[in-house]
Amino acid sequence: MIKLVCFKCKKRYEFTEPVWRCSCGGILDLDFTPEFPIEKITTRKPTMWRYREAIPLPEDFPVISFDEGFTPMLEIEIENRKVWIKQEHLFQTGSYKDRGASVLMSYIKGIGIKQVVEDSSGNAGCAIAAYGAAGGIECNIYVPWDTSPAKLIQIESYGAHLNKIPGTRQDTANAVLHSAETTYYASHSWNPFFFHGTKTIAYEIIEQLGWNSPDAIILPVGNGTLLLGAYLGFNEMFQKGIIKTIPKIIGIQAENCAPLYDLFNSEISIQDSFSFDNSKIKKTIAEGIAIAEPIRGKQILEAVKASGGFFIKVSEKEIESSLKEILRKGYFIEPTSAAGIAGVKKYILQENNSKHETLVTVFTGHGLKAGVKIGEVIDN
Ligand SMILES: Cc1ncc(COP(=O)(O)O)c(C=O)c1O
Ligand SMILES: [Zn+2]
Repeated sequence: MIKLVCFKCKKRYEFTEPVWRCSCGGILDLDFTPEFPIEKITTRKPTMWRYREAIPLPEDFPVISFDEGFTPMLEIEIENRKVWIKQEHLFQTGSYKDRGASVLMSYIKGIGIKQVVEDSSGNAGCAIAAYGAAGGIECNIYVPWDTSPAKLIQIESYGAHLNKIPGTRQDTANAVLHSAETTYYASHSWNPFFFHGTKTIAYEIIEQLGWNSPDAIILPVGNGTLLLGAYLGFNEMFQKGIIKTIPKIIGIQAENCAPLYDLFNSEISIQDSFSFDNSKIKKTIAEGIAIAEPIRGKQILEAVKASGGFFIKVSEKEIESSLKEILRKGYFIEPTSAAGIAGVKKYILQENNSKHETLVTVFTGHGLKAGVKIGEVIDN
């Protein structure tokens, strides 16, 4: 039994109802209990769909898939510490968003929707467009005008309609709401099915560490599709007794756009209602996390707190120097991913207890998507 449940008023909807938010305006989550038949799982193909019983879609639903998942984990040295990197830039569309798009677009096809709208800083738009192409679903993607050109080309290449919106990422989010009144909104931040795709990163990390949980996971965070997904996945395996502890979740934000860092470190209690203060927001090279008003902000703060984690903010200079350092080791990642690495460096330098911890972080997006911005950094 799968139900959509409002985070705010607890109203329940049939999961097949094409609603992307509650009638009260609240965010919807899923009431669903995953199963993990480990003996079956380990005999299946190494893709995220090997955890089929943990993905909230009925058996007879179509699965739109490029055999995504099971991205390699690799140990690299950062600040003289070994850190596991989950290489999510190696997906079909070049970012971890494929996990969410595969589940969300399968759900959308399964309930018979033929046309969707979506807004994105670029990568989620690329993923929704690619899975839309594979599943025969027409996509209308809204992005900020200054999104990396390769992402724009990628979205259009898949046959999606592209709408470039003047102004900030928030202006793009506002613009799509108008279209969402008449067309299904395949939103990676509103729609809970997306998070039930991104959660598979946690299952894979656990399996790749020999069915163990890391001590901490360090993730760049904007709308929290990766962070909340990871928390959900770790929590589900914890509830089922597969792991004994949930890792500390460390959220990394750019200093120029750090609403979650600021709220977490303010006097405001997470229980209170709060609004975001846009006055301090500036442009950042980490375009994927340039989110001034994360829709699931409250949930992100709660997840980080419940895991025993915290937030770190990194400057533009720190992002750029981490990017250069990683490129020089032979990895080609986006500046947004480099923000995560800058956060890892700070975490290691700040935290005395990190020496014996198993640390995991993620290369979230491929450098080929942001060649122009990377070029500007290396020319500096
Ligand atoms: C490359 C990259 N890394 C990280 C993120 C983090 O975003 P979120 O917090 O929504 O998962 C994004 C989002 O677009 C991204 O494109
Ligand atoms: Zn509600």
